[in-house]
Amino acid sequence: MELMEGLLTRRSVRKFEDKPVPKEILEQLVKAGEYAPSAHNTRPWEFLVLQNKDILKHFRVVQRSALFAENAAAVILVCGREDLSFSREKEGWSYIDIDCAAATENVILAAHALGLGACWCGAAPMSGPIAALKEYFKLPENVRPFSIVVLGYPAETPKQPERFDASRIHWEKW
Ligand SMILES: Cc1cc2nc3c(=O)[nH]c(=O)nc-3n(C[C@H](O)[C@H](O)[C@H](O)COP(=O)(O)O)c2cc1C
Repeated sequence: MELMEGLLTRRSVRKFEDKPVPKEILEQLVKAGEYAPSAHNTRPWEFLVLQNKDILKHFRVVQRSALFAENAAAVILVCGREDLSFSREKEGWSYIDIDCAAATENVILAAHALGLGACWCGAAPMSGPIAALKEYFKLPENVRPFSIVVLGYPAETPKQPERFDASRIHWEKW
């Protein structure tokens, strides 16, 4: 699939066929995530790949809007590494979530390109899901769960509405 076509046809998919996704394909998705841009090229991410049905069922407990993970083939939990991210503790900022968002989008677009469907479900910045995911997966102290990418072979093809809004472009001045 050509990149621009992929960008313009991607939709969130929440219904999946009962069919596993091969490990090599899941690896390709993570590879796409690792090619995302990041502040100062710190690449502060880790990917927890989950296919176990009992674990997928647990997502309804940690993030209610991700409950459809129970019928998915896999979840990729995109996590940030607080020790690697470009940040200034004294000034109270970090690029960790922004970098993980770029990686998440790459994973989702790669899924679409490879004939899968995916939905980005939020974890960060919500304190509840962050704490629940950290505890359930026994994540190390320096690891911050960022997004729950739910995926599988699509059992629905949502139509793409027109999204281009030329009035949002400000040429040369606002
Ligand atoms: C940060 C973020 C968090 C999201 N969280 C959820 C979620 O918890 N559950 C869900 O079903 N969709 C979630 N979505 C998907 C959005 O609902 C979806 O992207 C939006 O409605 C636009 O639809 P589209 O992805 O088909 O273009 C999330 C998307 C983003 C970017």
